[in-house]
Amino acid sequence: MCIFPIFIFVVCFPSLLLSESFRSLQLPPNAFGPESIAFEYGTPRFYVGVADGRILQYNGPRVGFLDFGFTGPNRSKKLCDGTTNPDLGPVCGRPLGLAFHYSENKLYICDAYFGLVVLGSAGKQADQVSAAADGEPYRFCNGVDVHQPSGNVFFTDSSAVYDLRNASKALDNNDSTGRLLMYETETERVRVLMKNLSGPAGVAVSQDGTHVLVSNFIGNNTIRYWLQGPRANTYDSINIQERPDNIKRTPVGDFWRAAAAVKQAAQTQSLVAVGQRIDGFGRVSQTVNLEAWYGDRLISEVQEFGGELYLGSRFTPFVGVYRF
Ligand SMILES: *[C@@H]1O[C@H](CO)[C@@H](O)[C@H](O)[C@H]1NC(C)=O
Ligand SMILES: *[C@@H]1O[C@H](CO)[C@@H](O)[C@H](O)[C@H]1NC(C)=O
Ligand SMILES: *[C@@H]1O[C@H](CO)[C@@H](O)[C@H](O)[C@H]1NC(C)=O
Ligand SMILES: *[C@@H]1O[C@H](CO)[C@@H](O)[C@H](O)[C@H]1NC(C)=O
Ligand SMILES: *[C@@H]1O[C@H](CO)[C@@H](O)[C@H](O)[C@H]1NC(C)=O
Repeated sequence: MCIFPIFIFVVCFPSLLLSESFRSLQLPPNAFGPESIAFEYGTPRFYVGVADGRILQYNGPRVGFLDFGFTGPNRSKKLCDGTTNPDLGPVCGRPLGLAFHYSENKLYICDAYFGLVVLGSAGKQADQVSAAADGEPYRFCNGVDVHQPSGNVFFTDSSAVYDLRNASKALDNNDSTGRLLMYETETERVRVLMKNLSGPAGVAVSQDGTHVLVSNFIGNNTIRYWLQGPRANTYDSINIQERPDNIKRTPVGDFWRAAAAVKQAAQTQSLVAVGQRIDGFGRVSQTVNLEAWYGDRLISEVQEFGGELYLGSRFTPFVGVYRF
């Protein structure tokens, strides 16, 4: 891209022209890997799910993170708190996607081992909403979003074969047994919208409820599935990008998506974390490169709040906050 020297500065280092800054909100010492972030309606208070199965509530810099809830019905604090042992996941739980239904004050959680669960405003133990659809249990519940007017919940099951502990095998085998699902609050039933997806991870419904975006982490693409209108029940692939993960709506109706970009060195290629602002057509209007703060660790979430980007990652002991 940097062909004309005179443009090198502007094209290659645009971030130097902006006042970019980064801070990290450290989790408590025994917590790790905030995969996803959900803000309460209109307040800076937010929630994250961590590796040992807890959901933590962030109460500002003075109080920091407090225990709020957990997903595993048999979770023991003694056994689970502070663990990063993936083999305890089926007991301790692993909350991945989080999304509020604001009017009901419900926090929906996609737990990698316990499927779709929900927490009320008192926190503590989550209740199961759905563990299977069409007779097939969720193996790897991952992303979730709520259509606020209807309360319908969209979520992904990344694979019918591999669970979170075996995610690298799913990658190596190009697994394509993932599903996009919808929990309809009115009927309390789950509908399978799409199957045979290649590592569906993030999901976000459009503000007008006409379509939903779903990212295929293994397949490196993002799909748009139509819920209403002349193209209802059809889909198209709208964007190709390495390792797309969670997708979150912005206040103006487009989206931020976590993903990776290929970094080319002399003999090697590696992946670095990026956040991308995309519209419902998959067009990228902004890309922020986060390598300076994340190195070779990928991120799983980018969410805009108060003019800043809040960043989740399974590989960090903090929530990043990026200002630009
Ligand atoms: C929780 O424990 C009960 C009683 O031991 C058992 O029946 C149930 O299967 C356990 N549930 C999970 C999800 O492990
Ligand atoms: C997933 O991992 C667990 C333990 O790490 C193992 O017992 C199980 O067989 C694996 N399943 C698959 C489908 O790879
Ligand atoms: C998975 O897909 C990639 C890209 O298309 C390909 O290079 C690789 O060989 C595939 N792996 C398997 C096990 O099919
Ligand atoms: C589609 O997914 C189902 C499981 O959900 C699996 O049994 C089937 O083999 C998959 N088909 C293809 C073509 O991958
Ligand atoms: C997805 O992107 C990764 C990283 O560039 C690559 O290794 C992999 O082969 C790609 N997979 C597919 C199915 O295109």
